Amino acid sequence: MGRFYKSTRYGRYEYIEIMHVRQFSPDDAERLSRLIVRNLKLVNIRDYSPRVIEALIPSHTPERIQDLARNGYTLVGVDGEVIVGTASLDGDRVRNVFVAVEKHGNGVGRKLMAAIEAYALDRRLRRIYLLSGLTAEGFYRKLGYEKAGAIEHDLDGVPLQLIKMEKVLTPAK
Ligand SMILES: CC(C)(COP(=O)(O)OP(=O)(O)OC[C@H]1O[C@@H](n2cnc3c(N)ncnc32)[C@H](O)[C@@H]1OP(=O)(O)O)[C@@H](O)C(=O)NCCC(=O)NCCS
Repeated sequence: MGRFYKSTRYGRYEYIEIMHVRQFSPDDAERLSRLIVRNLKLVNIRDYSPRVIEALIPSHTPERIQDLARNGYTLVGVDGEVIVGTASLDGDRVRNVFVAVEKHGNGVGRKLMAAIEAYALDRRLRRIYLLSGLTAEGFYRKLGYEKAGAIEHDLDGVPLQLIKMEKVLTPAK
């Protein structure tokens, strides 16, 4: 991707402007599934056992991603034709926040979350929550989410440690 220049003269914020957030289309499902599974295997593996990672993969098939988009609201971040991240809102729960591994730390996640929060406010939601993986707690904390408890989720017999986090949304004046 020729336009990604993290530490050159364009700087990080230039990239954020290039990235565009749009609504999910069914054609995105395969690529999003690959983006998520790559994160699980390369990044989330730092905090979870291979058994947990394997148990998580079936939740991120193209079909499951399409189901989530049908029942909720899914956004994708794109740079031209390249998908660089995704986030969803399902009722008042934020789900499936993933940024392409190569793009971590460039504001993509923050921008997707801002778009999700703006949508939630439009829907008159005043508090949203999410179940963060251990890997992302610091990210959500940076964005103003507060820990509301630790959760052990059962993934077909495999225990998955998650952190419930919440944020009160304030409408812009
Ligand atoms: C977590 C994730 C979505 C963050 O997206 P990102 O685009 O890398 O994050 P951003 O660049 O927008 O970061 C926003 C701020 O959070 C901080 N941050 C990002 N990831 C962080 C982390 N894992 N821990 C602590 N702080 C983090 C950044 O330093 C930045 O702070 P700053 O603005 O003060 O510099 C992304 O790293 C990811 O996909 N991780 C793997 C998958 C995952 O765990 N997803 C969440 C499932 S619950």
